[in-house]
Amino acid sequence: MMSQDDLKRAVAKAAIAHIPVDCIVGVGTGSTANYFIDELARIKHEIRGAVASSEASATRLKEHGIDVLSLNEAGSLPVYVDGADEITRHMHMIKGGGGALTREKIVAAASKKFICVCDSTKLVDVLGKFPLPIEVIPMARSFVARQLVALGGQPRLREGFTTDNGNVILDVLGLKIMNPVELESTLDHIAGVVTNGLFARRAADVLLLGTPEGVKTMTA
Ligand code: 5RP
Repeated sequence: MMSQDDLKRAVAKAAIAHIPVDCIVGVGTGSTANYFIDELARIKHEIRGAVASSEASATRLKEHGIDVLSLNEAGSLPVYVDGADEITRHMHMIKGGGGALTREKIVAAASKKFICVCDSTKLVDVLGKFPLPIEVIPMARSFVARQLVALGGQPRLREGFTTDNGNVILDVLGLKIMNPVELESTLDHIAGVVTNGLFARRAADVLLLGTPEGVKTMTA
């Protein structure tokens, strides 16, 4: 029987076919992205380098001898490959389980194509069972938490965690995410919120879904 890790490895491998020759690749964060980095190392002589969405991914890329460029140096990217905590058939996602949501959203926004790599447990009908991560400026933590309660959520501070940008994460349970595009904007308008983990305005373009029957390619 295939484990969840086997499925993650399979989608990471499948993503390599979507990488144009001689390009700079946008690279996500998390265990599936880590498998993708390992696969990317096999074709490192066919790419120019990578832009990482976290310090952790940058370190792993460098350990493999892959050049890591800043987004400012690289400019617009042809492709961004990353995992998700939940994804719908409309390609809307919750991300940020690993706390890298802000840089992930920036690199995704700067990329022409977002390829999401997930095992089949991540595909859901409605987003929100996974607590929605929200990166918050530390001084605004309590204020933002009260606003989230007013929206019907139950925010919990991610204890002992600081993001790569020096901020905190509130993980929010109980939000009914029937309209992810609208909620993404609503949350972004709370003062003190840096980024929320809804990736709906810039959804994935392609989902490579690891299932026990093989890797399925889906588009919205
Ligand atoms: C990190 C993320 C990851 O993509 C998400 O948490 C999925 O991780 P994994 O591949 O380990 O299941 O958004 O901030």
